Amino acid sequence: KILILDFGSQVTQLIARRVREAQVYCEIHPNDVSDAFIREFAPKGIILSGSHASTYEDHELRAPQAVWDLGVPVLGICYGMQTMAVQLGGKVEWSDHREFGYAEARAHGHTRLLDGIQDFATAEGHGMLKVWMSHGDKVTALPPGFKLMASTPTCPIAGMADEARGFYALQFHPEVTHTLQGQAIYERFVRQVCGAKGDWIMGDYIAEAVQKIREQVGSEEVILGLSGGVDSSVAAALIHRAIGDQLTCVFVDHGLLRLDEGKQVMEMFAGKLHARVVHVDASEQFLGHLQGISDPEQKRKIIGREFVEVFQREAKQLVNAKWLAQGTIYPDVVESGGTKTKKATTIKSHHNVGGLPETLGLKLLEPLRELFKDEVRELGVALGLPPAMVYRHPFPGPGLGVRILGEVKKDYAELLRRADAIFIEELRNTIDPASGKSWYALTSQAFAVFLPVKSVGVMGDGRTYDYVVALRAVQTSDFMTADWAELPYALLKKVSSRIINEVRGINRVTYDVSSKPPATIEWE
Ligand code: XMP
Repeated sequence: KILILDFGSQVTQLIARRVREAQVYCEIHPNDVSDAFIREFAPKGIILSGSHASTYEDHELRAPQAVWDLGVPVLGICYGMQTMAVQLGGKVEWSDHREFGYAEARAHGHTRLLDGIQDFATAEGHGMLKVWMSHGDKVTALPPGFKLMASTPTCPIAGMADEARGFYALQFHPEVTHTLQGQAIYERFVRQVCGAKGDWIMGDYIAEAVQKIREQVGSEEVILGLSGGVDSSVAAALIHRAIGDQLTCVFVDHGLLRLDEGKQVMEMFAGKLHARVVHVDASEQFLGHLQGISDPEQKRKIIGREFVEVFQREAKQLVNAKWLAQGTIYPDVVESGGTKTKKATTIKSHHNVGGLPETLGLKLLEPLRELFKDEVRELGVALGLPPAMVYRHPFPGPGLGVRILGEVKKDYAELLRRADAIFIEELRNTIDPASGKSWYALTSQAFAVFLPVKSVGVMGDGRTYDYVVALRAVQTSDFMTADWAELPYALLKKVSSRIINEVRGINRVTYDVSSKPPATIEWE
């Protein structure tokens, strides 16, 4: 495994992604871990990350001495390169003038790291890389034993190497996609230079994770809030695999779930996995508290508050529980990225069970903390969860509560659930001939929104005044920005006619053609 020491860069997670994509296991730890920790970790190689964009003045951050003494290859990125230079006897010029953006770097000499990796070659035959730079400070003198590995017109030492010791450093960022050969560079480092095997697959991870959970928990009992979402489902399946009946899942149905969702969760966990699941039907309670409330933020607050209330009530009955399990995943583990590179571990923001552990006095069990979303999905499949559950679109914690505009009513929820199910069913069943994938797979999130306005329609001889449903389907990689999906007309036509014919009470369907920004994905 590879150790990544984090100096507080915002893209450290991307380094981990690259390494994992090379099928090598890695972990990120703060730059100030002890020498003993590093020896115990016994990495095959170490990567030193960059540092936060605004911390050029904080150039006191150093790598522990063990990094240099361990005898394994080290790769320094950006700030990691600078600290390598300083600590090994080179020179760095600190500056507040930043170089930011695209650059072309020339590779020098033959190095194990960059040899044969290039985007194009110059007329003289020099290998050239298209890279992404973001730095102010730079190395101005190589440490003893190092040779030049890369340069750009404005950064004469953009890469350096001491091949005898296996020390490499790059001023640019191979972890961002703008550095076209970035993946190749990380793969070269971890697989060839470090000799890591590339055998990081989910099957092996299960055994390791199961072992860890057993050690952590011992004979104590664990509770977990099951939401039907991917993360809590996979966490539940994994923990159940590890400790069986020591785990109790509490599934709170707030009455704002998708069609048959509650049934599916119970069938899977109670039925197939034989896990202990307490199914709490709290829909009356939630709907009661939502009565007369139309402000979206207030609705969210109420749903969150009631969720905590219900969960707590159930948890208190499980008097032996000592642990609260959560499906926190790697991207949820917030890094402050500030000058001290301390990791602030927060409970999932956006999440319904925020604030639970303090009030319950339970210890936190978070077995997915090291995994990225797609790894969580792979793990879910390896644990035997159905792919349709694991590859489901994300669903907001407040559920249909924020997809019924304004006041939430039980009959609105009924109508919306059925319309939404028709939309999703058709997306799943319609295959795009160009890619061979379903439109469900081709979209990142798709759903129906209930508009509590009545529009006129005609049915038979009479007029109708019925509700309107808007369909929303977006494509996005990070949910920060999103494009509306260009669904085929034939698909929209079918969905529209099915909803209007099958869901009495809805007589008009529209398609949302707004991108984010400025619109958001959800309507509230
Ligand atoms: P927006 O609407 O902000 O949504 O573009 C971005 C992503 O966040 C989800 N979302 C929520 N998830 N609780 C959640 O758990 C919420 O209150 C909430 N609001 C939005 C949304 O579904 C999309 O995936």
